[in-house]
Amino acid sequence: MTSTELVEFNGQVVVISGAATGIGKASAQLIASRGAKVIALDFNKSALNDLATELKLAPNQVHTCDISDQNQINTTISAILKDHGTIDALINTAGIVGPSNTPAIDVKWADFEKVLQVNLYGAIWLTQAVIPAMKDKKYGRIVHLASIAGKEGNPGLSPYNTSKAGMIGFVKGVAKEVAPDGIIINSLAPAVISTPMNANTSDETLKYMISRIPMGRVGQPEEVAEIVAFMASKACSFTTGFTFDASGGRATY
Ligand SMILES: NC(=O)c1ccc[n+]([C@@H]2O[C@H](COP(=O)([O-])OP(=O)(O)OC[C@H]3O[C@@H](n4cnc5c(N)ncnc54)[C@H](O)[C@@H]3O)[C@@H](O)[C@H]2O)c1
Repeated sequence: MTSTELVEFNGQVVVISGAATGIGKASAQLIASRGAKVIALDFNKSALNDLATELKLAPNQVHTCDISDQNQINTTISAILKDHGTIDALINTAGIVGPSNTPAIDVKWADFEKVLQVNLYGAIWLTQAVIPAMKDKKYGRIVHLASIAGKEGNPGLSPYNTSKAGMIGFVKGVAKEVAPDGIIINSLAPAVISTPMNANTSDETLKYMISRIPMGRVGQPEEVAEIVAFMASKACSFTTGFTFDASGGRATY
């Protein structure tokens, strides 16, 4: 097999959460163009429908699913396995920022919990839901979108920092559990990327974030999608439990 063949997805079923916009959408577009049958999950119905039209997805390739609800996750993954027979890769990009510019002592618990439910519990529940079928076929790739915030911690963003640090720790341990089963699980920690998530970020905050990036610019979702595609493919064959970087040089560890 050549390396070009390894990064293709012909005949593979790839489930992408948060596929409606941003990094998830760019990943869906790229991975579909490389031959995958993409199954798109999101709770933003209208943006999800736009993606379905663009990628010509069949109705059973499109699922409205709120990943902060374990029952919805389990029902959705079961339906996907019933319809498509397998899941070769799960790419979890669904996420929210939650309270920002808020000191930890001022964060309302309900807001803290909501961020954990989406970003951390959602990641855990999705992973638990796909592993049994991957174990059965001795193959699987799992990719979770973490953040530089989970490695460094951003002031005023404690729920988000906590959720992403938790995700990184979760991935490290699970990777060791499932390594003998042919399942590879990694996370990816981008710095600031130009997506709808940052649409309301103030110019001042963006300037501060860019000042910390040696390349002196924000990243584009298409650049992140290239790394996601590698991580979700057969080409990623000897790296697991790792946190990949997409930070323009901000993180060199
Ligand atoms: N954009 C950045 O600067 C940046 C940096 C580091 C990490 N990340 C992470 O990358 C991932 C993708 O972010 P993005 O920038 O593409 O943002 P985005 O807001 O464009 O995309 C997130 C998607 O997740 C969906 N979503 C949110 N909550 C959901 C839920 N409960 N159930 C189902 N779908 C839900 C949204 O509808 C949206 O389509 C996130 O996990 C984010 O934390 C983003």
